[in-house]
Amino acid sequence: MARALCPGSFDPVTNGHVDVIERAARYFEGVVVAVIRNPSKNPMFTLEERTAMLSEALSGLENVEISSFDGLLVDHARQLGISLVVKGLRAVSDFEYELQMAQMNARLAPELDTMFVTATPEWAFLSSSLVKEVARYGGRVEGLVPKGVESALGQILVNRR
Ligand code: PNS
Repeated sequence: MARALCPGSFDPVTNGHVDVIERAARYFEGVVVAVIRNPSKNPMFTLEERTAMLSEALSGLENVEISSFDGLLVDHARQLGISLVVKGLRAVSDFEYELQMAQMNARLAPELDTMFVTATPEWAFLSSSLVKEVARYGGRVEGLVPKGVESALGQILVNRR
């Protein structure tokens, strides 16, 4: 299997995302991380900031590259010539929405398959939204996100004071 696509908002990237991407990178020749420019929820970080944080966090993985997209994921996958999406699942609650998206994507692009990687239990509770909430109220996010994200969250809070 040539390359897999790992899409998401990555607002910001967490250690849970890094874990899924690292594991996908073991099984595929290449992994392209696809960052959506305009996520449905108003992002805390710009596309450039989210991409820079991902680049730093994934710099040790030679077969991983980062791309960004607007619009439909299936169009981006087609442009890249990739026919496999890999996503992480933390719980059954993730599965319901992920299954729906996978099936819609397959309907839009029958050549596109989706595979799921189960979250490492250590990160099963972790989400970008919770990380932002904890950081917003001054809680510690050390060990939950890459170092660059930790400083970026700290900086945002300092600037808002
Ligand atoms: O990190 P997220 O927010 O769970 O990522 C969701 C994402 C970006 C993968 C998903 O919203 C997406 O693929 N959006 C692009 C729009 C699209 O293709 N929608 C139809 C799929 S059902």
